[in-house]
Amino acid sequence: MTMSPSILEPAAVETPVAVVDLDIARANARRVTTYAARHGLGWRPHVKTHKSRTLARIQLEEGARGLTVATLHEAEVMATVCDDLLLAYPQVGEGKVRRLGALLERGVDLKLALDSPEALESAARAGQAAGRDVGVLVEMDVGMGRVGVGTPEAVLELASRCAEEPGTTFRGILFYPGHIRVPAAAQGPILKEVGGRVGEAIQALEGAGLSPEIVSGGSTPTLWQSHEIPGMTEIRPGTVIFNDRDMLALEVCGPEEVAFHVLATVVSVAVPGHAVVDAGSKALAKEELRGDLRGYGLLPDHPEVRVISLSEEHGVLDISGSDWRPRVGERVRIVPNHVCVCVNLQDRLLVRRGDGYGVIPLEGRGRSPGSIEQPN
Ligand SMILES: Cc1ncc(COP(=O)(O)O)c(C=O)c1O
Repeated sequence: MTMSPSILEPAAVETPVAVVDLDIARANARRVTTYAARHGLGWRPHVKTHKSRTLARIQLEEGARGLTVATLHEAEVMATVCDDLLLAYPQVGEGKVRRLGALLERGVDLKLALDSPEALESAARAGQAAGRDVGVLVEMDVGMGRVGVGTPEAVLELASRCAEEPGTTFRGILFYPGHIRVPAAAQGPILKEVGGRVGEAIQALEGAGLSPEIVSGGSTPTLWQSHEIPGMTEIRPGTVIFNDRDMLALEVCGPEEVAFHVLATVVSVAVPGHAVVDAGSKALAKEELRGDLRGYGLLPDHPEVRVISLSEEHGVLDISGSDWRPRVGERVRIVPNHVCVCVNLQDRLLVRRGDGYGVIPLEGRGRSPGSIEQPN
């Protein structure tokens, strides 16, 4: 990426545009690897937050042990920058088997999280076809109630099947504590409960001679408390690379650690008490936050202003509680509630590094090219 010309400076670009500060993103990555190293953990960041090879390279340069992906398309893109990938999503269906096999043939050390015999069979077929095993992490539910088997016995059963199935190698277990959305001070008892469940699963596996080499967990809201869950070998926080309004509210980060905002322009002040910007739900994403937090984003330069409603291309700001009287044409920065879905709405990102600006593509965005053109 060439960083340069002034035509890319935020004052000159057309809005709405998503802007990333690469220096802050790199510092965020460094903070995670420093913390992880201190506690004997590896960091395998989830790339669903940025979907970009540029950001993945920064994470790897700062010491990430590998990458986590959610889709086969992300896996195929990230395989060009890293050969140690965890696909943390069960792969079901013939087309997926073929593409898993192709990743293995490229030499990727591929780990797959799964929670069913069906997904295990898909993995086995891919491994057999490629002549190289898929590493399997049995996914366990630790309270979110989304995916994952619920008991140590069920973990052991899948792990045992996996150890017998040609084409797969049992590598360990995976969990995602996505139900923990409270500030650090209130996480203690929930982390203890999660740690208990993980500990029981590890014990059951060890008792059967299937000691897990990898115990993969972690999230951004629990990031700085990861060491309170015994037995983990690696963590997968993704949001931390940019942070967002949600992470600010949970006190996971400070304002200086937010690397992402959407730059918008005030397009109307005709309605008293309101200002309308050109970033609506198609630029910011209409994600609600938990609890008392209302609105669809934070204006770091005018925190008293609320983003009260979003149409597709209009963002309505309530300025009635502010002294700020914006003019039509004025620019505002908006930090989205949930940065991952906001990034996914962008075609590319405007990035700042030092004094320079550049543009980066989001190569991992989108579904699977080829899956419709070449049906199974
Ligand atoms: C399986 C899995 N691992 C890791 C993450 C990353 O968590 P966070 O968004 O809290 O950084 C997610 C987020 O959705 C996830 O689904």
